[in-house]
Amino acid sequence: MIKRIIPLFSLVLFWGCKGSSTPQVLINREGRNIIADSGMVVSAHSESSRIGVEILRKGGNAVDAAVAIEFALAVCYPEAGNIGGGGFMIYRDPSGRTDMVDYREKAPLKAHRDMFLDPEGSVVPGLSTDTRLASGVPGTVDGMINIHGKYGLLSFRDVIQPAIDLARNGFPLTDEQAADLNGFRQKFIDRNSILPAFVRNDPWKAGDTLKQPELAETLERIRDSGREGFYSGKTASLIAGEMEKGNGIIGLKDLAEYQAAFRAPVEGFYRGFRIVSAPPPSGGAVILLQILGMVEPFQLKDLGFHSSASIHLLVEAEKRAYADRAEYLGDPDFTEIPVSGLLDQGYLRKRMEDFREDTATPSSEIRAGHPLRHETEETTHYSVVDPMGGAVAATTTLNGTFGSGIVIGGAGFLMNNQMDDFSLKPGTPNIYGLSGGSVNSVAGGKRMLSSMTPVILEKDGKLFMVAGSPGGSTIPTTVMQVITNVVDFDMDIANAVDAGRFHHQWLPDRIEYEKTAFDRFTENKLKEIGHTLRERESLGRVNAIMVMPDGRLKAGADRRGLNSAYGY
Ligand code: DON
Repeated sequence: MIKRIIPLFSLVLFWGCKGSSTPQVLINREGRNIIADSGMVVSAHSESSRIGVEILRKGGNAVDAAVAIEFALAVCYPEAGNIGGGGFMIYRDPSGRTDMVDYREKAPLKAHRDMFLDPEGSVVPGLSTDTRLASGVPGTVDGMINIHGKYGLLSFRDVIQPAIDLARNGFPLTDEQAADLNGFRQKFIDRNSILPAFVRNDPWKAGDTLKQPELAETLERIRDSGREGFYSGKTASLIAGEMEKGNGIIGLKDLAEYQAAFRAPVEGFYRGFRIVSAPPPSGGAVILLQILGMVEPFQLKDLGFHSSASIHLLVEAEKRAYADRAEYLGDPDFTEIPVSGLLDQGYLRKRMEDFREDTATPSSEIRAGHPLRHETEETTHYSVVDPMGGAVAATTTLNGTFGSGIVIGGAGFLMNNQMDDFSLKPGTPNIYGLSGGSVNSVAGGKRMLSSMTPVILEKDGKLFMVAGSPGGSTIPTTVMQVITNVVDFDMDIANAVDAGRFHHQWLPDRIEYEKTAFDRFTENKLKEIGHTLRERESLGRVNAIMVMPDGRLKAGADRRGLNSAYGY
């Protein structure tokens, strides 16, 4: 449903503005496609976007705002925002230096390769998605504390407090959220011995206030004791106790040993734009840069936006990238991942040697390539740009909507069902239809392969765009289309984000597309050259910011969902 949100203008005094020495009154703006002078946040909920901008106005940088947003999303967007899950955050400081924190969940130490199989060797339906066994050890809290400790300007107390207040005082539910909670009600009842705040007798309606006092207490323990407030003490005991109520295997040792990891982001170029994104254990950047590298020699613009020829080209590149994903991508702490071989220009040109302009190559004829192994080495995305020119792109998730649906009794937060992102059995697809091999098999302490693709783009050494999306396996192709829409098809960020999308992931061998993506004529052309098509209601929910030539910031808050941009 497309909702037009009329921009709200509220007057706030602020002295100073990017590139100006004259004191100026900067106005708070809210909407989907607003323009701002100084700082901007685009996230999945208006409460988290508002909180992020308040932190920027207090003198916080993009990391301070991002940490405040991440905790706020755990309160106001429990569908995906979390402290019981994980994600990837890229930071580009005002001088252009980039860093990334990987706060992806890890399999518990007792996890093992065949843990989701029955005695006959088949995957047990629901075990990796709907039970206590579905959860990896949460990474969000350690990730936030680490990135804040490294780059934050404000105190940790200052950035977490707004989320605590939001949990304690409550916030009004949107109509989509009321429907989500009502739709999930029976699952919450079936999967929890202590009824969570998400369940009440009457159905939820838009505008009802959701208060989460137990979550507020958990966040207070994190505020007061930092990492120890979550990974040991009362919260850790509550998590371990919740696991014991069912088949869960996360214990105190798993929590005590969990560490987020700073990793060098993956970088590449597309038509002169520098793209910075998340490395394995996310496959997002590799897939994105592989697709872009494969299509770069072609004149995408001349083929035409959403013409059958341009869709065919992109889809054929997508198939080849996803075939490589299944073979080569997993946790770099467990297996050597040939990232630079997979992104090598020569390798990518070779991957497209069998591309035929007039025929779809069946996925059954596409195998993973042979990159050189010379290595030196319901999700939600939010984007932040601060007044100093720093930027954060972060994607965070519980995996499924509301994760496993299991709330830690007494601690008020939902656990992830990220274990399903492992390859549970070679060749057996997960909930996103992705299958893979031993490189992504379950093992204690290992991170499951992700598709999350937070990106920061630079043009001529200057910040140009911040973007990312939820959507499981469709994340890299969603982000890729936002980039090609801007770079090849000259769209502004709002149109680039709102444009219809399509997706191919090698297996299953079909193009998934939104109804609005292309017309009947294009559909027929694609079928004629051998593609199978399947309509999908929606693909991705991008939250992006673009720096305009005059230095102002333009928001692209996806029309899909109730995304919200705040800026000033
Ligand atoms: O890490 C991943 O790739 C998935 N767990 C992301 C899940 C997701 O995007 C769900 N949102 N629609």
